[in-house]
Amino acid sequence: MKTVITFGTFDVFHVGHLRILQRARAFGDRLVVGVSTDQLNYEKKGRFPVYTQNERLEIVSSIKWVDAVFLEDSLEKKREYLAAYGADVLVMGSDWAGIFDMFSDSCNIVYVDRTPSISTTEVIEKIRG
Ligand code: CTP
Repeated sequence: MKTVITFGTFDVFHVGHLRILQRARAFGDRLVVGVSTDQLNYEKKGRFPVYTQNERLEIVSSIKWVDAVFLEDSLEKKREYLAAYGADVLVMGSDWAGIFDMFSDSCNIVYVDRTPSISTTEVIEKIRG
């Protein structure tokens, strides 16, 4: 049983999120997703998500490619999360290329191309007009 892990905010869930989850799952037999807490997102991106962490957990956990979810409350705890969930592969979008290479001693690190022309930020801006 090969376990894949990925992390993200997954706010205003869009097709780019769906595709990275589908592609991540294809690297193994089980996909675990760390969903950023509202507070962590505020620290990373300077704003609170549109959807609360419980709403985002509920949405991500209902995706058919996802087997388990948990709340990621600190960027400093990546190594603990990888160990706790027995990750064999860490998959991240190419916007993170190189950033997680330090964990290559505990699992395989894969960066996949982002889906072009969509992001939570762009969706919010489009709705704002
Ligand atoms: N992602 C992707 N393709 C996109 C958007 C996101 O593959 N078009 C991936 C990211 O690379 C990341 C995961 O989805 O691995 C979660 O990204 P997240 O930051 O939650 O979404 P964004 O749309 O990038 O959000 P924002 O605009 O707030 O930065």
